[in-house]
Amino acid sequence: MLDALQAQPADALLALIKLHAADPRDDKIDLGVGVYRTGDGATPVFKAIKGAEQRLVDEQDSKSYLGPEGDGGFVSGLMPYIFGGNPERGGRIAGMQTPGGTGAVRLALALAQKAGARRVHLGTPSWPNHAQIVSDLGLETVPFDHALPDGTANLDAVLRVIREGGEGELVLLHGCCHNPTGANLTQAQWGQVVAHLQKTGAVPLIDIAYQGFGDGLSQDAAATRLIAAGLPEVLIAASCSKNFGIYRERAGLLMTIVENSTSQPVTQSTLNFLNRQNYSFPPDHGARLVTMILNDAALRDDWQSELEDTRLAMLELREQLAAELRQRTNSDRFDFIARHRGMFSRIGATPAQVEAMRLDYGIYMVGDSRLNIAGLNAKTVPILAEAIVASGV
Ligand code: LMR
Repeated sequence: MLDALQAQPADALLALIKLHAADPRDDKIDLGVGVYRTGDGATPVFKAIKGAEQRLVDEQDSKSYLGPEGDGGFVSGLMPYIFGGNPERGGRIAGMQTPGGTGAVRLALALAQKAGARRVHLGTPSWPNHAQIVSDLGLETVPFDHALPDGTANLDAVLRVIREGGEGELVLLHGCCHNPTGANLTQAQWGQVVAHLQKTGAVPLIDIAYQGFGDGLSQDAAATRLIAAGLPEVLIAASCSKNFGIYRERAGLLMTIVENSTSQPVTQSTLNFLNRQNYSFPPDHGARLVTMILNDAALRDDWQSELEDTRLAMLELREQLAAELRQRTNSDRFDFIARHRGMFSRIGATPAQVEAMRLDYGIYMVGDSRLNIAGLNAKTVPILAEAIVASGV
């Protein structure tokens, strides 16, 4: 039976991680996978996470099963950060703990599919796993251009697909810190998106995997809040991988706003069913640490200040790289890097130029020239700038 399987194409990002690991050069620079790194290349465990873990060892007295919805305190604890004040929405929210943000995206799409959705409008480029999950579930991706050549987000394209989107269609949007382009709509433009969504039956699915990495924890949720306040149905996939630095623990959540409180129990039971038949229960450890942090003032302060330091460090690197390129090219061609938000920007290099930077400088970035800003430091910014110029980008 298994002979019938066909090899799947290698995941480009996972292949890049392997390629980087196999490179013996001491001065190689990893700008590939979206993981935060300090100036010396480490991805340390947040102090608040360590504190919660130490307490967990002392206090946890059972590893017995929880329900398919995981830890109840996790979803409700994160709701104020995503929705702001009054997160309850009159009992219109069904929420679910998931294995990472990827689990939340998959659960959202599986839920929509069960409700009859067939098409997903997706601004491209996007995180490659979006289209892969859509297709693996047997749904159709309808692509539109996310970004304009000047490095800004393409408002007209998203408004057009929303106008054309009908009942039962999804529009997948990045709530902040667009991956891979770094180009985000302004708040005024999000207002237009909401106004258009209100006129069609299309349902927004917001992926907010990088909350806290752009303009701040609550600023990064501003678009999501606008959409959540203005529409009857919204799906929101969130992740704790980046903003709590617990990548491998797989802690994420899906929140669905439903039209009225009577559909809430049906949606919640469908989410429970989908979790149960996929993996019975989501993993507990990472989500429990998050819940502990959110419920403890000292741990919460530590978390927020470390997250803020992380965000500011990335912004500084963006400024440094843009300034270095301005000086070397004598132009403002790369100023968009300073204007972008989140971990990523694409510098507009061809695959051959990306390859040349890898071979000649040991610089690893994704083939579409997405670079992880957090992989840089004050010493490597000039090296990258030199490589960009030398390879003729
Ligand atoms: C990335 O885009 O680098 C991250 O979201 C990691 C991943 O799983 O792809």
